[in-house]
Amino acid sequence: MKKIITIGGSNSKNSINKILAEYVGDLVKNVELIKVDLNNYEMPLFSVDVEAKVGSPKGVIALNELIETADGFIISLAEHNGSYSVAFKNAFDWLSRINGKVWRDKPMLLLATSPGIRGGQSVLDIALGRFPFNGAQIVGSMSFPSFFDNFKNNEVLNEELKMTIEKLVADLEKKI
Ligand SMILES: Cc1cc2nc3c(=O)[nH]c(=O)nc-3n(C[C@H](O)[C@H](O)[C@H](O)COP(=O)(O)O)c2cc1C
Repeated sequence: MKKIITIGGSNSKNSINKILAEYVGDLVKNVELIKVDLNNYEMPLFSVDVEAKVGSPKGVIALNELIETADGFIISLAEHNGSYSVAFKNAFDWLSRINGKVWRDKPMLLLATSPGIRGGQSVLDIALGRFPFNGAQIVGSMSFPSFFDNFKNNEVLNEELKMTIEKLVADLEKKI
């Protein structure tokens, strides 16, 4: 069975991006879903000096090995001051030192949400510009706005957003 990895781009225990990535992942039919919580992959703050001393930390090696097995990705990025959360960027930087093609030329749905009306549009734009250089085959993307108004009890309340997600899922199913 094909394997899809979901990643919430945050280290918040109650990450809304983790919730969204996993919600969307659960809609994909006939795949094995691996739900990544960045908190389970311990790693120090990236520095070339730490890297020279210890190489890749265990958490990074484990995450990289998991990524190696993926047939596709659903990633939802937290937006901190218009950009990646430190936790995500740190993992991304470490991973890129093992293999620049972090996303292994595999299909990806790229999402971002926040409590605000733009969702995570700014971080999404940054990742849309960058991830293809790291081997992401981006199938589709969406910024999911006003998370707490539009998502309750594991349901998307807004019909338009729901339809957009269903279309993204169908497009991903075709590519994996
Ligand atoms: C340091 C910091 C910066 C933030 N900057 C933004 C921002 O630029 N845009 C935004 O929409 N929300 C911003 N927020 C609010 C986050 O979107 C919110 O905390 C959200 O829950 C983060 O996603 P997560 O729950 O997946 O961690 C910020 C939050 C923090 C802690």
